[in-house]
Amino acid sequence: MDALQRALSALVGRPVDTPRALVDRYPELSAIRLREGGLPPRVAGWMLRQRTVSALTLWRTIFIAPGTALAPELLLHELRHMHQFQGSSAFPILYVWESLRRGYHANRYEVDARTFADRRVHDPRTDPPEERCNVVQHTPTSVVTIERFIIEQERLHPEATGELSGILYDLALAAKMIANKVRMAGLADILGATDMTNVQGEVQQKLDVLANEVIVKAMDHGGRLCGMASEEEPDIIHITEGFKCGKYLLLFDPLDGSSNIDVNVPVGTIFSVVRKITRGTRAEMEDLLQPGRRQVAAGYVIYGSSTMLVYTTGQGVHGFTLDPSIGEFLLSHPDIRIPANGRYLSVNDSYEQHWDEHVRALMRRYRGMDGEHKALNVRYVGSLVADFHRNLLGGGVFCYPANARSPRGKLRLLYECNPLAFVCEQAGGAASDGTMRIMDVAPSELHQRSPLYMGSRTEVELATEILGAVTSGV
Ligand code: AHG
Ligand code: MN
Ligand code: MN
Repeated sequence: MDALQRALSALVGRPVDTPRALVDRYPELSAIRLREGGLPPRVAGWMLRQRTVSALTLWRTIFIAPGTALAPELLLHELRHMHQFQGSSAFPILYVWESLRRGYHANRYEVDARTFADRRVHDPRTDPPEERCNVVQHTPTSVVTIERFIIEQERLHPEATGELSGILYDLALAAKMIANKVRMAGLADILGATDMTNVQGEVQQKLDVLANEVIVKAMDHGGRLCGMASEEEPDIIHITEGFKCGKYLLLFDPLDGSSNIDVNVPVGTIFSVVRKITRGTRAEMEDLLQPGRRQVAAGYVIYGSSTMLVYTTGQGVHGFTLDPSIGEFLLSHPDIRIPANGRYLSVNDSYEQHWDEHVRALMRRYRGMDGEHKALNVRYVGSLVADFHRNLLGGGVFCYPANARSPRGKLRLLYECNPLAFVCEQAGGAASDGTMRIMDVAPSELHQRSPLYMGSRTEVELATEILGAVTSGV
């Protein structure tokens, strides 16, 4: 009898209750039936050349592989497959067909289930804000300033010394000062190129110089940094003699998109913080040349119709809007999640003649020209921060491919790609140079450039699928 029962449960698995707390929070989950184990996940795993898959839906039953955590995303994703099953009896065949044609990640049923689960879990209307980020909410007489938010976050980490928080406050102050100067740019006679050129040989606008100076001066005496590197300066910026050195380093692009200022288009500041890895107190090149995955904080400021500061310390992405009437950044976008599917394509296609055929094929795909992909809307400001910010909130992909004239693209790995890649990944997106994850690239020079494909996960996966296959010769 025992043997029979064992054989049966190997086939159909053992029934499991959906956790009460999850059903309370997502009542629609009461419609699902769960079974742990059983043959279906193993058979599917074998077909996908994996040991098992974590979950598989057949009609109204969800089979969960043993040891898989019953996370809300997973169950909601499978619930969506259940809806798909109910929608058409041909679903299993259509699902397999989609996977063969487009690959698992681009399978439209998978994309739909991922989006559904992501939206449901991160829907601000149904998600109580105090559970998403541990802060007090705004009332007419009580607001959440960036300072208060950072303190609340720090409390979650009793081991924190407060140094990183100090860096973020100082950056917020620098951002307010730069915002002020950018706002005045149209009024004051400070526009136009200086006679200096920066290390990249591009024309440097006066506001670049100002923003660079503002950041260096706001950061160099706090005792938290041991060095800095700026897109606008050729070498390491050491801490002035006499000031205390700390254990962090700051890398930044003081004014991204600065050539756009005289036409009143948004510009930004991008920053990245890493921990010192060498001995001694002074910063060394090795400290600055760390792969992006070692960043402890990163973010950007956008000087647009409002000024916003968006940052991550590896605990999600949070956005603050500057209220000019009180001069404070107020929490406006807690726990930002990038939509799973693309809406926008941001690329400068005047380089099309210099792209190779694979990049051209990818762009045709994004534009829906080969009938394999829904057509994305093209939006390109020419300020990375502005293009990235829009895609982060609306979903999509930003591309700056390599081209025959710029074989490594234009953007700088340490000041632009890495910090935005950290933000993007923390918001549920991805960033790649076309062949590998941006944050795994080991930098060899301070001002190194890199091609960049960054945004909603499925779109970036498509880029690596098309471009990654090229370099590996498949
Ligand atoms: P920066 O102003 O810091 O030199 O950066 C400008 C960058 C970036 O903001 C933007 O995405 C890109 O240049 C636009 O370059 P193209 O004009 O080649 O498209
Ligand atoms: Mn830039
Ligand atoms: Mn710049």
